[in-house]
Amino acid sequence: TTKKLEVIDTVRDKTGDLYKYTKTGSLLVNERRANKDRKKSARDATNIKTSRLGRVLGKQEKDDDDKADEEEKTFLDDEAYDKNTLQQQRRKLPAYHAREELMKVIAENQVVVVIGETGSGKTTQIPQFLYEAGYCKFGGLIGVTQPRRVAALSVAKRVSEEMNVKVGKEVGYTIRFEDKTSPKTRIKFMTDGILLREALLDAELDKYSCIVMDEAHERSLNTDILLGLFKRVLTRRRDLKLIVTSATMNADKFSRFFGNAEQFTIPGRTYPVETLFSAIAAQDYVASAVKQIIRVHLRSEPGDILCFMTGQEDIETTCEELTKELETLIKSDPSIEPLQVLPIYSTLPADLQSKIFRRSKYRKCVVATNIAETSLTVDGIRFVVDTGLMKLKVYNPKLGMDTLQITPISLAQANQRSGRAGRTGPGLCYRLYTKYASLKEMFPEPIPEIQRTNLSNTILLLKYLKVDDLSKFPFLDKPPIETINTAQYDLWCLGALDNFGKLTALGKKMSNFPIDPALSRLLIVSSFSQFQCSKEMITIVTMLSIPPIFVRPTHDAALQRRSDSVREKFQVAESDHLTLLNIFNLFKANGCQERWCTKNFLQYKSLRRAVEIHTQLSQIMGSQKLAITSNPDWDVIRKCLCASYFHQAAQFKKYGEFVNLRTGLQMRLHPTASLYGLGDLPKYVIYHELLLTGREYMNYVTAVEGEWLCEFGEIFYAAKEKGITSRENQARKEHEFQKVIAEQRKLIS
Ligand code: CDP
Ligand code: MG
Repeated sequence: TTKKLEVIDTVRDKTGDLYKYTKTGSLLVNERRANKDRKKSARDATNIKTSRLGRVLGKQEKDDDDKADEEEKTFLDDEAYDKNTLQQQRRKLPAYHAREELMKVIAENQVVVVIGETGSGKTTQIPQFLYEAGYCKFGGLIGVTQPRRVAALSVAKRVSEEMNVKVGKEVGYTIRFEDKTSPKTRIKFMTDGILLREALLDAELDKYSCIVMDEAHERSLNTDILLGLFKRVLTRRRDLKLIVTSATMNADKFSRFFGNAEQFTIPGRTYPVETLFSAIAAQDYVASAVKQIIRVHLRSEPGDILCFMTGQEDIETTCEELTKELETLIKSDPSIEPLQVLPIYSTLPADLQSKIFRRSKYRKCVVATNIAETSLTVDGIRFVVDTGLMKLKVYNPKLGMDTLQITPISLAQANQRSGRAGRTGPGLCYRLYTKYASLKEMFPEPIPEIQRTNLSNTILLLKYLKVDDLSKFPFLDKPPIETINTAQYDLWCLGALDNFGKLTALGKKMSNFPIDPALSRLLIVSSFSQFQCSKEMITIVTMLSIPPIFVRPTHDAALQRRSDSVREKFQVAESDHLTLLNIFNLFKANGCQERWCTKNFLQYKSLRRAVEIHTQLSQIMGSQKLAITSNPDWDVIRKCLCASYFHQAAQFKKYGEFVNLRTGLQMRLHPTASLYGLGDLPKYVIYHELLLTGREYMNYVTAVEGEWLCEFGEIFYAAKEKGITSRENQARKEHEFQKVIAEQRKLIS
């Protein structure tokens, strides 16, 4: 028996209201009415029990053996719970009790480091306290930064609910390419990247009266850079309050950084958590996790489960296997309770994300990335299943790019993860690794992002902010000198820095786009008189900035073939970039319809987003006084792509294989590339990125001419009779040489 109630009939009445009926003929829900009622109940919280929706479902429960539809049921619970107990819930948070003292410390100090257990109310409460204490009185904003987009979004939603306003009004959020704020907005949640961009336009951050740097312990690259910038801003703006919040790790470091800034610890209660290590190392961490979750579910007392995985892919597998396993179990023993399995990762659509916060009738099992370590708190967790792994962005100097690698977490993170089980009562944490492995393989603390990532983007911004001498910048932890040098070299190659490490006019323009330096260069170059194809290039850059647009059904082979053949229909033989352009234009020509996307196996949501990003990039082009002109000549567009991506070029070697012109690295065409499977492959190509899945694959590839590479990439390539040869070493030497001259000049002047 399935536990879910089937909706077998939907009927629309004269007023257009939609009714859903169940097998037994009872009315499940009237959708439009339900919506109206939801609004009404927001106005009148006490009325909820007698609302129509309430009665419908109340009746449902009494006279129907079937369980009410999961979705609607939890929604109702959620609704009643929201309106009646939100304020009660607030009052229970440790931050609430510390309010008076905390606000006093903030009033007396310019910088305060606030420390508190995860879930104590730092993120949701402090901005409200500041607001209520009048820090917005003279029009100033309260800015709250988050290292993750999901967190910015979900927290803005939560706080606006608590304050009983709509998101985008008094409480809003801004993430890249999406701005949900208005002139009314007083509390603004945003990613740290957004605030960094704002600092470019207004170095003093004048519109803010308070800034909360939330989750500073995560040590994201942008947070670290912002903290460095604040050192300067704070001396010039004595009225600005800075609040740095941190889980218990790293707090002293922040304090010291700001000249022994005041610390405030929110007293919290936590319950003991018993930690169990695995006796042997897990071979397959997904399978072990599934087994452990089922064991907990079958044997233990009540309480929700939180499982830490590395990323979307294994989260999805875990959820699938868990559901399958449980179905089999329940079939053989119907007395076993269902388990509500909920995934959470940063690219999960927002409506699915918020599901983890809803109340459920059954035991919940949340399968999450390290996002649930500190930035999201799910109440009621009593069991934690920890794989001890995470995905980490690591700079790979051999490939000259960031790669996502699965690596062991640090000891501090392991403790943070187990602590999640002890928020509401004593808990249990099952570690799927041995104690020996934890001692041998785990660092005590995580390595800050600034020490393991490509810094081109950051250095471009710092140069824009006139931090010419990077060794003088107050880094919380210094990045490795090689990383800084590589980044400067890359920017020099792109023409963003001159021979003396100073920002060029081109570099200045580039730093105004919230995208990778190579892409912003592409946009700028496309407006040059030689190409005049900026309209097309905006589309291409947009399409490279959204999540994948192709849908490939996973289980059905026939559907898979159909989706592949549809994709071929869109493909422009010599270029994936042109294919993207083609699809975007067709999407618009077909009225941006969802139906058209479904029919053609394309992601509607991604394409809708593309339309928005397109508008924004066009606006930035306008504000930079860059002409937007259209040029339908595909050869010119390919040439323009070559003018910006010459640094990522490859030469054909033998069937399916290419070698990187600069590094000699062997690379293949990705199977989804337009060129893939063609009999006659071009001699030279440029590519947008490298994908690492066992082998090195070029993703988004365009055929180019050898002469173009020599023309635009003369710093790297020289034309010889046999073809192009690399002069990479020469280029590096020139770069080094110029640095020496620059140093000497500095000494003289
Ligand atoms: O920032 P900190 O970890 O100290 O706590 P918080 O994020 O402010 O969370 C405080 C409480 O709000 C927790 O009990 C969360 O479960 C709840 N919360 C929620 O229900 N929904 C959200 N989107 C965010 C927080
Ligand atoms: Mg928080």
